[in-house]
Amino acid sequence: KHVVFSGIQPTGIPHLGNYLGALSNWVKLQKTVEPNDVLLFSIVGWHALTLPQDPVSLRSARDDMLAVILATGIDPTRSILFHQDHNLHHTELCWILNCLTRMGKLRRMTTWKSRLAASRNANSEDDVDESLLNAGLFTYPILQAADVLVYRATHVPVGEDQRQHIELIRDLADTFNHTFKNHGKPPVFPLPVYVDTPSKRILSLKDPSSKMSKSSPDVASRILLTDTASQIKSKVRAAVTDSMQGITYDPVSRPGTSNLLTILAACTDNNVTEVAKLYANKGHGHLKSDVASAVEELLKGPRAEFEKIRHEKAFLEDVARKGASQAMQYSGATMDEVRKRIGLA
Ligand code: TYM
Repeated sequence: KHVVFSGIQPTGIPHLGNYLGALSNWVKLQKTVEPNDVLLFSIVGWHALTLPQDPVSLRSARDDMLAVILATGIDPTRSILFHQDHNLHHTELCWILNCLTRMGKLRRMTTWKSRLAASRNANSEDDVDESLLNAGLFTYPILQAADVLVYRATHVPVGEDQRQHIELIRDLADTFNHTFKNHGKPPVFPLPVYVDTPSKRILSLKDPSSKMSKSSPDVASRILLTDTASQIKSKVRAAVTDSMQGITYDPVSRPGTSNLLTILAACTDNNVTEVAKLYANKGHGHLKSDVASAVEELLKGPRAEFEKIRHEKAFLEDVARKGASQAMQYSGATMDEVRKRIGLA
């Protein structure tokens, strides 16, 4: 039996990278898994707290995220959709895993290294390093491991930026299994695998050396799931490309152009090299206009659906409540076993 788990932070409306790299893959898996496979998708409010959040905005972003996920096609009668903070088993397992994680492992996480580098740049004094960052930013991958392992998940569909975290999760599962092995009994945790998409890394429209992200101050660097056709058009038109003639797929020397091809291929469900061939003798203007139309075509359904269901408060609450209670049935069984193994039953 497969158990699929993935999560998304409620830090604003998801962008095209979140959608192509993760959310659309959740919907695809929902259609392709076997009937007795389990799918769990979580809005991870605790992860959002690693950066300062205004409580009022967090509250509404958390509600909106539930509506967005439903709008993209996640069916709450098939998939378990819930708020992470409704299930305390995550934090219980997180603490146990904390006590099995070496600091050195966390220091190697690229997400931590980039936070550290950003903090050093912002504080020019030489002695300023990790002392100004909160511990949650450092231990956040352990909470992510708990999210996955508490359901004994086998498959984790995420974008490329999360790949190293999945390695850590496998490592922690293995450490737990070895530390608390009980002869004659199977290991507690399966080692989950990373499930990616061809569009696992969508780049910023303004700076194709970095990924499209929610945190960039430049709003033109990302397309949101709620952007209108004209917003999509103007963001794509202003996307940074290059001055070379013709169109080729070459992510190393033409990252901006290649990013547009990746987006077009993903939106139209085609292979990127095939798509590139069609544009070989065309210009950037032509490519951009087709990208904008393809993105609009892809997003208009979810956008309209979101505008409709975001106001159905009773329905949304019902989905979240049922989701949490179903999730807790799975995680409760895991925690019973975990507590027994570690001697705290
Ligand atoms: P988050 O909220 O930053 O992103 C949600 C999903 O979107 C993917 N993603 C991208 N994919 C392609 N191109 C991009 N530019 C891009 N930007 C983001 C992310 O890889 C992710 O799949 N730590 C996670 C949330 C999390 C989680 C988990 C995920 C918490 N616990 C357990 C899986 C399993 C995060 O911050 O994702």
